[in-house]
Amino acid sequence: MSGPAVDPFAKIRAATKVHRDRHGCSAYPYSNGPLLAALAGAANARRILELGTALGYTALSFASGAPDATVDTIERDPDHVQIARDNIAAAAMDNRITVHEGDFASILPTLDPGYDVAFFDGGTPVTSLHKTLRGLLRTGGTLITANLNHGGTADAVRKALFDGKSWRSALVDADGETAISVKL
Ligand SMILES: C[S@@+](CC[C@H](N)C(=O)[O-])C[C@H]1O[C@@H](n2cnc3c(N)ncnc32)[C@H](O)[C@@H]1O
Repeated sequence: MSGPAVDPFAKIRAATKVHRDRHGCSAYPYSNGPLLAALAGAANARRILELGTALGYTALSFASGAPDATVDTIERDPDHVQIARDNIAAAAMDNRITVHEGDFASILPTLDPGYDVAFFDGGTPVTSLHKTLRGLLRTGGTLITANLNHGGTADAVRKALFDGKSWRSALVDADGETAISVKL
């Protein structure tokens, strides 16, 4: 048996937790950057969209897993935007990752459709944003939805992802936190 996957961005993940404690914000880093990197690589992704940059941990994970991809990531907290841009530049990924500063609802309409991979990690999933993400994703593209076990508005999103008509979906962890869905 081999050990857990090495995470090249583990320090940024750890720094995100430290930042959250000091800042009192919602910058909860995703649990598994290497999983996102592998999914982006398996999809041979060229264009990736992320909702919820925090300090750049998952955007960097995606970019490292798909070396031909560009990543558009959206974040409204100006402190997070600045730190993420610094982290991305330090990793020499600023030519491939764009941090869009603003609310999801205002930035998403400015983006061109045709994404290969989209990742929702911006708090509790809501149906309206998922409909917009579906429109931006190409048919056959992969949607990764975190925080599906939050209850509230997440329940309707999970129901839509598993309707058997619009998406082919699977939960990737025992607690139902994340789904991977292919757009049908
Ligand atoms: C869970 S954190 C993202 C974690 C990041 N993906 C990672 O793994 O390090 C959620 C982020 O989404 C941002 N956010 C939440 N709602 C937002 C909205 N409506 N528009 C833009 N950013 C939002 C928060 O400021 C926070 O930084």
